Amino acid sequence: MGLGLYNETVMDHFMNPRNVGEIPDADGTGTYGSPVCGDMMQVQIKVDENDIITDCKFQTFGCGSAIASSSMATTMIIGKPVEEALEITNKSIVDELGGLPAVKIHCSVMADRAIKHAIYDYAQKHGKTYKGLKDFDPTDKGDEPEA
Ligand code: FES
Repeated sequence: MGLGLYNETVMDHFMNPRNVGEIPDADGTGTYGSPVCGDMMQVQIKVDENDIITDCKFQTFGCGSAIASSSMATTMIIGKPVEEALEITNKSIVDELGGLPAVKIHCSVMADRAIKHAIYDYAQKHGKTYKGLKDFDPTDKGDEPEA
């Protein structure tokens, strides 16, 4: 697929991804494997005592759209209360990117799912419940290979 299909915002987040890496003392870690392409994503979050997400980092073996989607998603949730971060969907990530080619939408789904898993992990470890996790299925890890 030619790079010309991607808009400037997508290209910017692909070429200069924000918040790549790991958080050694993360409060929550989530992984998700795309059932569509088999690529993987890990998202980690740091949450302060006021339930604000203060940091978020990602690592992915996914494609450029996955990098752009997760980069954008991290910038959307850092600084937000956890409950508000849960309102983010793969559609809002794609909207914020100004659109992705249709065959690349699943890459943004991976970012969205990995974030939800990271928040779920945080909630489990800290005894928290969130409205936004009501319909979340923690057993859906996508295509993640057995550890
Ligand atoms: Fe696998 Fe984009 S094709 S993440």
